[in-house]
Amino acid sequence: MKNERYTTRVAVIGTGFVGTSYAFSLLNQEVVNELVLIDINKEKAEGEARDLNHGMPFGSAMKIWAGDYEDCREADLVVITAGANQKPGETRLDLVEKNVDIFKGIVTSVMENGFDGLFIVATNPVDILSYATWKFSGLPMERVIGSGTILDTARLRYLIGDHFQVDSRNVHAYILGEHGDTELPVWSHATVSSQPVTKMIAEDGMPVLDEIFTNVRDAAYHIINRKGATYYGIAMGLVRLTKAILRNEQSILTVSTLMQGQYGLHDIYIGAPAIIDRNGIREIIELDLTELEMKQMHHSARTLREAMEPCFG
Ligand code: 2OP
Repeated sequence: MKNERYTTRVAVIGTGFVGTSYAFSLLNQEVVNELVLIDINKEKAEGEARDLNHGMPFGSAMKIWAGDYEDCREADLVVITAGANQKPGETRLDLVEKNVDIFKGIVTSVMENGFDGLFIVATNPVDILSYATWKFSGLPMERVIGSGTILDTARLRYLIGDHFQVDSRNVHAYILGEHGDTELPVWSHATVSSQPVTKMIAEDGMPVLDEIFTNVRDAAYHIINRKGATYYGIAMGLVRLTKAILRNEQSILTVSTLMQGQYGLHDIYIGAPAIIDRNGIREIIELDLTELEMKQMHHSARTLREAMEPCFG
């Protein structure tokens, strides 16, 4: 780790909607000193870097440039957003083979240039591509983190907050499992302040919570059908994760991480709450799930495992 340097450098690979929204959000939130944009289309990365640089007098003082894999050597964090994304009607898992191939090239190039920091993976299917990054990089699991269900958890907190008309930052609730169709809400631990939401719904009953969850799970489809892609929410989630790492915050975020017996699962990356610090995953939190939630978690893991089979079988 490069703790001896005073600058913090993030390299973003992929300057599509997610990568550039992340860059814009970093510029606005004063998180890092150096930001390298890397894209197979270098002209696009250069255009984005110039555009972002012109916002510098209104944002934070930092250095932004279009670079190459060799710039990853000095990076604290490499954030991968590159790869094919979902078209209307496609699931995240439909992208697996195409994106595992792309990742092999990317991760190998980053490592060959002497990278010794942490990876954040955002490309879908994020759980499988995080596993692929861990395998291809040879780094310890705590240094390869997927965005996992960080966005789904944010969507859940937003919708619960909206339903009860309270600030979503006072809502504590988690989505676990695949970042995708088999994810699950942990209603048994969802609270507003310290009030269980299952009590707060009173006579309205579970259908209200079921509807909230359906809207969380299907949010990406609803957005992709309307505007073709999702990027602001995930970009802000990635900045949140970046801050937790670089500022050694010890925050609890739902990320995709390697299970080594937690939740009865092994050798799979899947979304779960974890304590995040400067070294990455400090500890995976094992929530005390109900029988139904545990069943759903295992169903989600099985689905991921089947989807991984062609690449890591
Ligand atoms: C999302 O959930 C598509 O994974 C992306 O917004």
